[in-house]
Formats: sequence, C-alpha cells, structure tokens
Amino acid sequence: MNNILFKNTVEITDHYINLFKNKIIIAADMTVGNGNDIYKIVKTVDKKSEILGFDISEIAIENTKNLLKEFKNNNIQIIKDSHKNIFKYINKKLDLVIYNLGYLPKGNKDITTDYVTVIKSLEYVLNFLNINGIVIITFYPGHSSGKLESIEIEKYLADLNQKNYNVLKYYFVNQINNPPYVVVIERLN
Ligand SMILES: C[S@@+](CC[C@H](N)C(=O)[O-])C[C@H]1O[C@@H](n2cnc3c(N)ncnc32)[C@H](O)[C@@H]1O
Repeated sequence: MNNILFKNTVEITDHYINLFKNKIIIAADMTVGNGNDIYKIVKTVDKKSEILGFDISEIAIENTKNLLKEFKNNNIQIIKDSHKNIFKYINKKLDLVIYNLGYLPKGNKDITTDYVTVIKSLEYVLNFLNINGIVIITFYPGHSSGKLESIEIEKYLADLNQKNYNVLKYYFVNQINNPPYVVVIERLN
C-alpha cells in the first residue's frame, strides 16, 4: 500500500510540478492560501526562476510569506491582489500556473474563488502560456459553490480549441461525495 501512485489530487499536482525539476521557469500560484503549493514549486524549480503568488486574503499572504522565509534570496513576489489582475504584474510568458480553488482550509469560507474571476484570469494566462507550458487546477465540487464553479469553468475549458490546448481531467470515479479533482491544460502551439 506504500507505493500508491495517486492517493489524492496532491500527488497528481506534484507529478506535474516535478516536470519542471531544476528548470529555470516563470511560474504563478494564483491562490497561495497557506503556501503549500508555491513552497513545492520554489523547492522544485531552479532558484533563478521567477515566481509570483496571488491571494486576496491577508492571512493567506502572511502564512505564505512565513513559509517561504528560507527562500529570501529567490525571485518570488507574493501579491495581495485578485488573480484576475495578474496582467498588472507580469508581461512575460508563463511555464507553470497553478490554481487551488475554494477557500482557505480552516479559514474564512466567505473568501472563496469565484468562477467569473477565475475564467477572466484564465483568459489572460492561457494567452501568456509558453508552448508546453501547463496550468494545473484543483476543483472542490463537494460544496455547492465549488460545484457551480467546477461546472462553469469546465464549460469554458471544453470550448478551448484542441489544436491549441490539451485539457486533461483526473477524476476519482469510484470515490463518494464529489471528490476533489484536477484538470491540467497544456499549450500546444
Ligand atoms: C484552497 S485555498 C488555496 C490553498 C493553497 N494553494 C495552499 O497550498 O495552501 C484557496 C485560496 O484562494 C484564495 N482566493 C479566493 N479568491 C481569490 C482571488 N480572486 N484571487 C486570488 N486568490 C483568491 C482564498 O483566499 C484562499 O486562500
């Protein structure tokens, strides 16, 4: 049982982050939360990489900055702003973008992602993705706003031209109660 490949969505996300091991990249964490995802990215990629992280919650920004203290010499910007404003902070092509949707675990459930804002940011990000660059999105359809969000964002993703993007969904079909799932988007040209 110790060698389970994909126990949950985190392993899937880690698999994709590891594709950038020791590479110099430009990455964005669109929902830093407690900082776990951005921490993994920073640990994995080359220290010359440029990494941005967004959140609208003060506590999330604080938690993330604390977690990343050991990387004070790396090129990391933690920005208290909505991910829909990413265009204000970067005009370079992105290699790796990650969204972990919903609300901060154990935090204020009212500060949650919403599909209109996420789609607005995705429009920008997908245009500014390098070829073979990827976007990883974790969805939480187990609660009602998360369910609506997953339906609306998937509608948007389903309309992306397959000549330009691969859109792959990882869903545990045999788990109960609408488990979290991951969608990975790769830019093809
Ligand atoms: C599930 S948590 C993220 C967990 C995080 N990735 C981690 O590793 O700990 C979702 C986060 O999205 C943030 N959020 C909600 N709306 C946002 C927006 N428009 N722009 C940026 N962050 C947002 C919330 O404040 C919350 O911290």
